[in-house]
Amino acid sequence: MSRLMLGRTLERICKGVLLLCLLHFLIMMILYFDVYSQRFDIFSRFNNGRNGSRNNSSGAASGHHFYYYNLSRPNATSAPYLAAGEQLVPSSQPDNNHTPSPKPLPPCPENPPGLVGRLLIEFSSQMTMERVQKENPNVTEGGRYKPPDCRPRWKVAIIIPFRHRENHLKYWLHYLHPILRRQKIDYGIYIINQLGEDTFNRAKLLNVGYTEALKDAEYDCFIFSDVDLIPMDDRNLYHCYDQPRHFAIAMDKFGFRLPYAGYFGGVSGLSKKQFLKINGFPNEYWGWGGEDDDIYNRITLNGMKVSRPDVRIGRYRMIKHERDKHNEPNPQRFNKIQNTKNTMKKDGISSLTYKLVQVKKYPMYTNISVEIGKPPPRPIKG
Ligand SMILES: *[C@@H]1O[C@H](CO)[C@@H](O)[C@H](O)[C@H]1NC(C)=O
Ligand SMILES: *[C@@H]1O[C@H](CO)[C@@H](O)[C@H](O)[C@H]1NC(C)=O
Ligand SMILES: *[C@@H]1O[C@H](CO)[C@@H](O)[C@H](O)[C@H]1NC(C)=O
Ligand SMILES: *[C@@H]1O[C@H](CO)[C@@H](O)[C@H](O)[C@H]1NC(C)=O
Ligand SMILES: *[C@@H]1O[C@H](CO)[C@@H](O)[C@H](O)[C@H]1NC(C)=O
Ligand SMILES: *[C@@H]1O[C@H](CO)[C@@H](O)[C@H](O)[C@H]1NC(C)=O
Ligand SMILES: *[C@@H]1O[C@H](CO)[C@@H](O)[C@H](O)[C@H]1NC(C)=O
Repeated sequence: MSRLMLGRTLERICKGVLLLCLLHFLIMMILYFDVYSQRFDIFSRFNNGRNGSRNNSSGAASGHHFYYYNLSRPNATSAPYLAAGEQLVPSSQPDNNHTPSPKPLPPCPENPPGLVGRLLIEFSSQMTMERVQKENPNVTEGGRYKPPDCRPRWKVAIIIPFRHRENHLKYWLHYLHPILRRQKIDYGIYIINQLGEDTFNRAKLLNVGYTEALKDAEYDCFIFSDVDLIPMDDRNLYHCYDQPRHFAIAMDKFGFRLPYAGYFGGVSGLSKKQFLKINGFPNEYWGWGGEDDDIYNRITLNGMKVSRPDVRIGRYRMIKHERDKHNEPNPQRFNKIQNTKNTMKKDGISSLTYKLVQVKKYPMYTNISVEIGKPPPRPIKG
């Protein structure tokens, strides 16, 4: 009797195991066909009729393309790969070429919501380029960035005339990259490095920056900034305006006030159109001073006005430093700025000549080294 019971139990267990095996087999078959259909797209072929002609119905954007999933890839389910024709070779096209038509980005807001306003700017802590790089992982080679989530209104080249100021540059990059990112600007950073030890020529370097930046990308806005000036408020938006823009209106060194009404120094910005309208900047101001007044004259003489931010927002901190060597005040500057009207047509972006020596893209900026000559010999007087 107990044997009979045992026999029946065994029979039941056997049946159970058999059923389980069947179920397992069924599931395997379903999975197999599922994968098979994805790979060879048989269902869409059935839908197209039996003459075997292929159509575009399989979902690919063009031609005889279809999707399949490479299940041995870790991310297979999230990204279907496009293959050409019947071959099971992954296309060499980048993945984003066939993601279901990417939505066009909305224009970036005029007042970006992520701004923080007044900023604490200080230069006491040690700054290194490694730190700046770590803080800005999304800045691409040559110091380029563009917002991932909206369409910027301007493409801005930021031009910095430069010589021997590596330390200031680190602070500038440390503060400006995050500010510009919050401002949702599409930008590139260009250091224009004057080679040699002849007299410095800021405005000519700015003309070079305009020319060289345009070789790199189609910029429509140019912001010219000294390397030692850091904005203290991120609402001072680094893009272009209806009129040429003067950004650095309230520097700490001038007691946070405009030093004089026609001041246009430090940080300024012109659209490509505005820049060309004034024939760029003068090339003949060697040494410190005057070139910004000449630029101001060019703007007003061409029927434009200077636009400025609110004085509470246009505040700047200047990194303290000793006067640079070979950038002594230019004694001719007072005479020259009287003559802008006569000189601006001849002297400007139209007459710019220089020797490009090196363009080097670093992670946080592009370094453009140029030879721009030296001042003409002084006329000898009695
Ligand atoms: C066979 O292919 C041709 C050409 O694409 C198409 O016009 C025709 O409708 C197809 N036949 C059937 C039965 O679907
Ligand atoms: C298939 O191709 C024919 C012409 O070649 C086209 O008219 C038809 O719309 C296509 N079918 C689908 C589903 O794309
Ligand atoms: C498939 O689509 C492309 C463009 O989307 C078209 O040029 C081509 O003629 C289509 N082929 C068929 C068979 O419909
Ligand atoms: C599938 O993906 C694996 C891992 O990425 C790769 O090695 C293999 O070549 C791929 N196979 C096909 C057919 O794309
Ligand atoms: C898989 O996706 C994750 C997150 O999207 C990504 O970080 C990773 O690089 C992907 N791996 C492969 C092999 O594509
Ligand atoms: C960099 O980009 C990634 C992906 O768009 C984003 O998740 C991340 O927050 C960004 N990092 C910074 C510091 O902006
Ligand atoms: C730029 O390049 C020049 C020439 O190679 C080099 O002397 C200078 O130090 C570089 N400056 C910066 C800031 O990278």
